[in-house]
Amino acid sequence: MRGVWSIPVSTLLLVNEAHPLAEEPPAEELLPVDSRFPEVKLHVRAKVMLDQLLTAAGGRGAVLPVSGYRPRREQEMIWADALAEHGTAFTQTYVARPGCSEHQTGLAVDLGENVPDVDFLCPSFPETGACGRLRRLAAGYGFVLRYPRGKEKVTGIGYEPWHFRYVGWPHARLMEERGLVLEEYLDWLRSFPEQGPHLNYRAAGRNFEVYHVPAARLEGLEARLPSHIPCQCSQTNGEGVVLTLWRDAG
Ligand code: DAL
Ligand code: ZN
Repeated sequence: MRGVWSIPVSTLLLVNEAHPLAEEPPAEELLPVDSRFPEVKLHVRAKVMLDQLLTAAGGRGAVLPVSGYRPRREQEMIWADALAEHGTAFTQTYVARPGCSEHQTGLAVDLGENVPDVDFLCPSFPETGACGRLRRLAAGYGFVLRYPRGKEKVTGIGYEPWHFRYVGWPHARLMEERGLVLEEYLDWLRSFPEQGPHLNYRAAGRNFEVYHVPAARLEGLEARLPSHIPCQCSQTNGEGVVLTLWRDAG
């Protein structure tokens, strides 16, 4: 792409009951989060940032990766087991329907306090200690608490203090500052169309420019991008894409 710093993964993909995942990530882009838990994998980009976040929060050892990437088949088994063990109300509150789980993207991770008998579906994740520090630092590393308290009607999922989703910079910071979940954030970004005005946001010494390009305007997009400015293009799993320009990324 002309003047584009392309990051192949679409970090703003919306996956929920109304937006099933169309395509799973390539296996070679998934890596174990921690050599002690080789079965818990994430997209390489989320894995690298989670490493940094765990270190910054002093969470190594105190916070465990419980569940990362799940192929659809695994989500089907989790859904069926939860129904059998906990019933419909619990399952619909805490388990996404197969095909509609953002764990299938490799961008979501469940983390839990290191205690005996960590619960796989609802791990303990207190607001204190290393877990609390991690939660407070998460946005700085591109992660958001995807299912916060009070947004259950928007996300369709109960409060999950353990489920973090990588959306990248500056989006995690913007979502946190504005108290928006991904559904609301993508709606808001649609109010910044390519024809302008764009969203301008200054954070961490950089100027970000963010805007939405609807599907009908994708043709010829590369040629319309400013040259020599690092740019990320993210699919949204809905109408169009989000462009993020790192205007003074050096
Ligand atoms: N627990 C989340 C909603 C999932 O199953 O994807
Ligand atoms: Zn989860």
